[in-house]
Amino acid sequence: MKFQLAPAALVLGGLMAAGAAQAQDATAEGIAKYREMLQDGNPAELFEMKGEELWKQKRGPKNVSLEKCDLGKGPGVIEGVFVELPRFFKDTGRVQDLESRLVTCMETLQGFNGAEIAKTRFGRDEMANVTALATYVATASKGMKFNLPQSHAAERAMYETGKRLFFTRGGTHDFSCASCHGESDKRIRLQDLPNLTKNPGDGIGFAAWPAYRVSNSQMWGMQLRLNDCFRQMRWPEPKFGSDATIALSTYMGVNAKSAESIVPAIKR
Ligand code: HEC
Repeated sequence: MKFQLAPAALVLGGLMAAGAAQAQDATAEGIAKYREMLQDGNPAELFEMKGEELWKQKRGPKNVSLEKCDLGKGPGVIEGVFVELPRFFKDTGRVQDLESRLVTCMETLQGFNGAEIAKTRFGRDEMANVTALATYVATASKGMKFNLPQSHAAERAMYETGKRLFFTRGGTHDFSCASCHGESDKRIRLQDLPNLTKNPGDGIGFAAWPAYRVSNSQMWGMQLRLNDCFRQMRWPEPKFGSDATIALSTYMGVNAKSAESIVPAIKR
């Protein structure tokens, strides 16, 4: 019996070792690839370049560029706007974040249908362009410190709404944002969960998106980041650019005061 079993066990053991070695090789290969990629530069740069092209290109039914788009510091100014958004805009009468404001400009300047864009899935068509544009504009504030305005009553109301929303529990799992992001040093699997009820530090949380996600090779803006966290919370999908998403961004952005933006970041 022993002699019959031994070879079988050996073969099996050998197979298992081969399997483990293979898995290890694949992991090592993955890490090596990742490092290589980082050496070559953050792939987000490609989205930034695409965004710059889109910004300057005459497009849409009106065939004009976005170079006169007012993102809060006057027509055409992109430097420093990202670290002061969301903010109140007189023309729309709304507090807007970068992505929803870009859609406003695409609508008013270029003649696109903003509502149609807002309904488009992330990564598709004009929505992919919005993400690229957001990456381009946000990158122009790299290294600057967050300083969201809170002088307008609507901006303060947005902060308060965001704060309440952050702690509101709901859905099938009775989760709130605070369930995962309300304490320091929490983790899910291998991912650090920043405490977003206070300033999480330079380049963390609000100060890191748009980011390039290596795990799925996609560029994500804050709207998609939030959309995915709603999914993780088992909450209904939020509408692109809705007041709920902007309130949450205002809350996190104000909390991040004086943190440095590292956008475009590279993420897991
Ligand atoms: C069930 C847990 C869970 C809930 C609830 C949750 N998130 Fe997250 N969130 C995560 C995970 C996990 C990550 C990191 C994802 C990764 O690394 O790919 C994350 C990442 C983030 C980040 C980016 C952090 C960084 O430094 O890159 C922000 C901002 C964020 N969440 C905001 C929110 C907000 C706002 C809510 C409520 C609407 C929320 N999250 C609810 C799990 C959650």
